[in-house]
Amino acid sequence: MAIERLVEPTVARDDIEEERMEVSLRPMSFDEYIGQEHLKRNLKLAIDAVKKRGDGTTLDHVLLYGPPGLGKTTMAGVIAHELGASLRVTSGPAIERAGDLASILTNMKDGDVLFIDEIHRLRRAVEEVLYSAMEDYKLDIVIGKGPAARSVRLDLPHFTVIGATTRTGSLAGPLRDRFGIIHRLEYYKEPEIEQIIKRTAGILKTEIKPEACMLLATRSRLTPRIANRIFKRVRDYADVNGDGIIDTAVAKDALKLMEIDHLGLDPADRNMLRLMYENYGERPVGLTTIAALTGDETATIEDFYEPYLIQLGLLARTPKGRVVTEKGRKHLQNGENVL
Ligand SMILES: Nc1ncnc2c1ncn2[C@@H]1O[C@H](COP(=O)(O)OP(=O)(O)OP(=O)(O)O)[C@@H](O)[C@H]1O
Ligand SMILES: [Mg+2]
Repeated sequence: MAIERLVEPTVARDDIEEERMEVSLRPMSFDEYIGQEHLKRNLKLAIDAVKKRGDGTTLDHVLLYGPPGLGKTTMAGVIAHELGASLRVTSGPAIERAGDLASILTNMKDGDVLFIDEIHRLRRAVEEVLYSAMEDYKLDIVIGKGPAARSVRLDLPHFTVIGATTRTGSLAGPLRDRFGIIHRLEYYKEPEIEQIIKRTAGILKTEIKPEACMLLATRSRLTPRIANRIFKRVRDYADVNGDGIIDTAVAKDALKLMEIDHLGLDPADRNMLRLMYENYGERPVGLTTIAALTGDETATIEDFYEPYLIQLGLLARTPKGRVVTEKGRKHLQNGENVL
């Protein structure tokens, strides 16, 4: 059984909660979008060029990839906003048949942006329709059945696809080739996460002391979504156990309650490292074996647990499997008393 994780970088819960509070923490423009400076510079240039030309050409298709919660969906919204375009949002698994894609595409207008989340999960038949749509703005469809069936080619509006994926590896080559702009989102720097927490505190009208903000930033896995989520739990804690102001003492107590350690690992991360080490020591462990040990899906391990543990150097990927590094072993030994 998988443990419910506070640091799990999935989206649903935050969005529902924010909707209830009628606020959005999602930045709308480049100015509000903190960090990812390299990506922003490149996109700004491309967008400015489109605007300057003003001849009806559209922004190249954009592919954003990287670990969950780093702001891919948010960036899609920012791009559409900066282009002054409408944004249509869908996802790989949501487009079941080629016909579904056809109806989305024929309803778009010139310059519109289509965001396809989890684009690596598009069905093959849908993907093939998307190829020619992206390349020539044409849609090939078959009308009718049997001997009467005929194929027609429809003109499509000149739209921009923004694809997001946590893994480029599982993206078909031909699809990848159709994106003119491909960027990896990087983990944020701690001062950027601090800025994000400060911004969130402002939007949610909560006072947070600078040292507390710094402390939360060190526990947020360099990931905005997790920073916001931890912030909200700490804010609950401050409301219930104090006067609502988040200072270092409150932040420390709340983090302890959530069992998030000084590197931002939660019990599920430590559990995975421990199980690997106890059963396999310093030997490499295959992905499916790790999944069997923890009771998670292999995809969960690859997308959620592993990237940050590797980034920290607690886990290493070798051709024979994953290994707990010396740093990882040390962390396990100290982990409990550094909460
Ligand atoms: N650069 C940023 N500045 C401020 N807040 C951000 C930034 N990037 C992301 N966020 C916040 O983090 C949350 C998660 O971002 P987002 O949903 O865009 O991540 P994602 O990369 O699409 O994740 P997934 O791969 O799980 O879909 C957003 O709701 C937003 O509030
Ligand atoms: Mg997303």
